[in-house]
Amino acid sequence: MKKERRVTVPTLQEMKKRGEKIAMLTGYDFLTAQLLDRAGVDVILVGDTLGMVFQGHESTLPVTVDEVIYHTRAVRRGIHSALLVADLPFLSYQVSIEEAVRNAGRMLKEGGAVAVKLEGGSTAVPVISALVQAGIPVMGHVGLAPQSCNLIGGHKVQGKTVEDIEQLLEDAQAVEDAGAFSVVIEAVPWPVAREITSCVTIPTIGIGAGPYCDGQVLVTPDLLGLFTAFKPHFVRRFAQLGDETLKAFETYVSEVRTGGFPTLDESYSLDESLLKEWQQVSREIPIAPDREV
Ligand code: KIV
Repeated sequence: MKKERRVTVPTLQEMKKRGEKIAMLTGYDFLTAQLLDRAGVDVILVGDTLGMVFQGHESTLPVTVDEVIYHTRAVRRGIHSALLVADLPFLSYQVSIEEAVRNAGRMLKEGGAVAVKLEGGSTAVPVISALVQAGIPVMGHVGLAPQSCNLIGGHKVQGKTVEDIEQLLEDAQAVEDAGAFSVVIEAVPWPVAREITSCVTIPTIGIGAGPYCDGQVLVTPDLLGLFTAFKPHFVRRFAQLGDETLKAFETYVSEVRTGGFPTLDESYSLDESLLKEWQQVSREIPIAPDREV
């Protein structure tokens, strides 16, 4: 019997050593998680992007700990192999170390996640260290930090000056030194992401950070062409499910309106003897002439 592959934190580190690329995607629900897992995705992230692509908010800021836990539980039920990472939403880890440990712990205890992800470089060191000491694996996230979009004036490419570039390198190294097992690099020019990837020993997972990272992540509804409000430069739509889905919904509406759905084949019929019995007690039952019983 084929042995089932289960991705763990050390698996990702071994993949980096072997030069094997890591495929990570976001997931928010049971059905999609099943498909991601079957496709061989190594890491499924219940990202706080759920606020935008699932709830329709303009940013990730409104997402709560309870909401991430709710989605993480659903995704957990769809996974056999992939490593499940839950995102720590805005204000769940910035207020105090104690709150951070409690909220991150809930992701594991109640959500069934194996690890958490949080945004921040050097400034996040105390919280990363505390979580790791508590036995909670942490994925870092440097470069564009969407939870700080109000501070930085939107979702912009990072590393625009030499000082910024040096800070990015310092941030990634600090995240590794604090004990993170991996780090997401978001919206960073590829030469900088390549340099970070060669400097740190933990796997780097890029999103808008070029091809030289140890792995890649995309927001799944972007990849599927389901989220179409805007398309970041780095997104490739591997399918056009938005168009396909819309077509299916429109066809359904039209078939219902014209009586084309459901057909009798798509309906439950009545056993002939039961029908006869019924007709004896109520002879008024109209049976359509073309109706098969
Ligand atoms: O929340 C999220 O989905 C993320 C990915 C974009 C990495 O942080």
